[in-house]
Amino acid sequence: MSVTAWVPRDAGALALGAEATARRLEREARAAGAALTIRRNGSRGIYWLEPLVEVETAAGRVAYGPVGEGDVAGLFAAGLLQGAAHPSRLGNIEGHPWLASQQRLTFARVGRIDPLDLAAYRASDGYKGLARALELGPEATVNEVTESGLRGRGGAAFPTGIKWQTVLRQPVGRKYVTCNADEGDSGTFSDRMLMEGDPFSLIEGMTIAGVAVGATRGFIYLRVEYPHALQVMNAAIALAREGGLLGADVLGSGKAFDLEVRVGAGAYICGEETSMLESLEGRRGEIRVRPPLPAEKGLFGAPTIVNNVITLATVPGILANGAAAYREFGQAKSRGTLPLQLAGNIRRGGLVERAFGLTVRELLEDYGGGSMSGRPIRAVQIGGPLGAYLPASQFDTPLEYEALSAIGALLGHGGVVAFDDTVDMLEMARYAMEFCAHESCGKCTPCRIGSVRGAEALAAIGRGEDRERQLVLVEELCDTMLNASLCGLGGMTPFPVQSALKHFPEDFRSKPRGG
Ligand SMILES: Cc1cc2nc3c(=O)[nH]c(=O)nc-3n(C[C@H](O)[C@H](O)[C@H](O)COP(=O)(O)O)c2cc1C
Ligand code: SF4
Repeated sequence: MSVTAWVPRDAGALALGAEATARRLEREARAAGAALTIRRNGSRGIYWLEPLVEVETAAGRVAYGPVGEGDVAGLFAAGLLQGAAHPSRLGNIEGHPWLASQQRLTFARVGRIDPLDLAAYRASDGYKGLARALELGPEATVNEVTESGLRGRGGAAFPTGIKWQTVLRQPVGRKYVTCNADEGDSGTFSDRMLMEGDPFSLIEGMTIAGVAVGATRGFIYLRVEYPHALQVMNAAIALAREGGLLGADVLGSGKAFDLEVRVGAGAYICGEETSMLESLEGRRGEIRVRPPLPAEKGLFGAPTIVNNVITLATVPGILANGAAAYREFGQAKSRGTLPLQLAGNIRRGGLVERAFGLTVRELLEDYGGGSMSGRPIRAVQIGGPLGAYLPASQFDTPLEYEALSAIGALLGHGGVVAFDDTVDMLEMARYAMEFCAHESCGKCTPCRIGSVRGAEALAAIGRGEDRERQLVLVEELCDTMLNASLCGLGGMTPFPVQSALKHFPEDFRSKPRGG
């Protein structure tokens, strides 16, 4: 009888050698005359244990990790295919404390199933949400999303149901559903993991959005740096079409919805929703002035939903299990769960989906296990390159929208990047300005010019030139960018700069440094 082993095809696992491990498993099995079927799954998000190999045994799936190519022969000899004992044996990975303590709603299937096995998707509650949405009808479906308390996971945390309601209220006619899969924030990877590990959940979420607001076409705007996600999404869309889940008669409802993937050209600003729409229309990614909102006049001038991958992929579960079940998770105005992405100088990086309310310290210590270097963690940046830096004195802040906003920070897309005590916060502040200068679309002066001047002034401070005057200039530039920029890129670049100045002033006043 053939034994099945699961090896992730997630890009993160591949980067850590999963493909070589899979090939080596095949060769070892052939040499040993053992019948082995290798199946590919998404990553469980425990990147510190990738490549993670799971073997199906009579007692369930038994995991080993990390399993590099060079570990395979030894594991075979120890009885890998029987789930035998070995120092890298982890047992049933779902019982591992790092995973068992998580609350995986959006990522429930990721790592468990073959991402392109439509039957497995349906067998694990897939398409129950769409079936319920079709039963409920547009108004009630949108109400359900509103009731769930779901807020956009792309960064701005706008209530999803309210956005959908605006599109639904527009006159019947051409409307679109667009998915923002640009995922440009540093240290973030949940969109990629979801698309590579459970693509049908995104397709189902977009279909629910389409039937709810009366849109018949959807587009996924995918960053060019995600070739594996592109492959998986395109294959899944073709399978969904074949299965009658996309096309002229979705799930036999008589309603039409179809979608396609469009690949961006690699600019951070194309993640901002109006730039994304420009880019989708074939133009250079540049901000559109609002109003009108995309929900009123978006893609090709038609009412358009713009939602992040995680927002849309969370919707099927909300419809399948009900808004009340989703609201049970989280606290205050932050309902449900958030897939946090832990990266940077951290011992155990990866994806942690938990209800809102986990503190930064719990994330860094209980999940992250402290810094990779073993030195104290001095700062974390939350919410991508435009997010504030938090000092250790703020690590007891709960990871939820209002608590972070109260300390001048933001949650963004849930990326948390850790730095140890060797970090130079002046350099981080200078880099924030340089990043903005590099990525600015150039449409407004505060961002286009302010970021260049800001980077120059911070470099001058680093050289010890006219420090006090340059510091005043940086504060004034931040103030102008914050209040007068046309979009969040220029408008939020001051967050990392001002938080670095506020919490780590010593780094801005120390001796001139070389280089
Ligand atoms: C400079 C900038 C970059 C952004 N990049 C992304 C991105 O990569 N992905 C994303 O989903 N949202 C991004 N956003 C937020 C989007 O403008 C928009 O709020 C979001 O896609 C809406 O979806 P949601 O309501 O589901 O979060 C960005 C915003 C700004 C200002
Ligand atoms: S803030 Fe920057 S990115 Fe945004 S519109 Fe102005 S120049 Fe363009």
